[in-house]
Amino acid sequence: MAVERTFSILKPDATARSLTGEINAVIEGAGLKIVAQKRIRMSQAQAEGFYGVHKERPFFKDLVKFMTSGPVVVQVLEGENAVAKYREIMGATNPYNAAPGTIRRRYASNIEANTVHGSDSLENAKTEIAFFFKDDEIVG
Ligand code: CMP
Repeated sequence: MAVERTFSILKPDATARSLTGEINAVIEGAGLKIVAQKRIRMSQAQAEGFYGVHKERPFFKDLVKFMTSGPVVVQVLEGENAVAKYREIMGATNPYNAAPGTIRRRYASNIEANTVHGSDSLENAKTEIAFFFKDDEIVG
């Protein structure tokens, strides 16, 4: 296994309920190091660009609206096998399908307001990290 970096978002439904600290404790408890983090208000252009891969999907407009509806916390997580490990502790996209104990099963309301985002591959992690962070903002 190799040390990897993955990209994470704590979504507006997480910040609205002040869950940043609680979710960060889960992330750190799983052995992932938060090597960059900032709380931002995502612009419409940022949300449309970040989720560009979904632009033909029926949920795209609502997703952009949701992601710009309140502050989000964008993060870079580092650790052994970080991409897969974070996906494991997040749980399935739809919280109703997420395993017990996962972040989405514990905190998410529905498939849209699903509390967290995590990169689905190492390649996408690199692109997503570069979308929100400059190299010197990441301190490993
Ligand atoms: P995320 O992992 O951030 O990637 C795309 C997001 O689209 C997803 O989490 C959900 O928040 C949102 N979404 C809304 N509806 C759907 C759907 N039917 N299938 C997949 N993702 C959806």
